Amino acid sequence: MRIIIINGPNLNLLGKRESKVYGNKSFKDYFERLKLKYTNIQLEYYQSNIEGELIDKLHELGFDADGIILNAAAYTHTSVGIGDAVKGIDTPVVEVHISNVHAREAFRHNSYIAPNAKGIMFGFGLKGYELAIQSFLES
Ligand code: DQA
Repeated sequence: MRIIIINGPNLNLLGKRESKVYGNKSFKDYFERLKLKYTNIQLEYYQSNIEGELIDKLHELGFDADGIILNAAAYTHTSVGIGDAVKGIDTPVVEVHISNVHAREAFRHNSYIAPNAKGIMFGFGLKGYELAIQSFLES
C-alpha cells in the first residue's frame, strides 16, 4: 500500500511556527517516527508552499497511489484549483488539519477540499495524520 502525505503552505515551519496552535514538533521528526511505525506501507511525504506544485503533485500521484493525506493549510479555504484537483483524481484523499479549524476564525470553516474528501480529521494535532493512515488501513 502506497500512501502520501502532502502538506501545503507554511507547514514546513511546524515546530517553529505559532507553537500554541501547531505544537513544537517538526514534521520531519514526526514523519520519521511514522515511517518506523508503519513499515508495512510505502509512506511518502511532500510539502510545497506553491499552489500549482500541490496541484501537480495531486495529478502525479492521484491515479497511482492508494491514499493521499492532504493538509492544504491556508489553500484549503481559498483554492478552487486544489478542490478541483481532488475531485478529478481517482485516489481517495483524507483532509487533515492539525488545529480545530472550526474553533478558529470563520474563514477557516470553509473547505474547497471537503466535498470531495473521503473524510476529514481536524483538531487532534499531528496525531491526525496517523489517524488518517489508519483510516486507509482499516477500510
Ligand atoms: C491548518 C489550518 C489552516 O487554517 C491554516 O491556514 C494552516 C494549518 C491546520 O493544520 O490546522 O496553515 O491547515
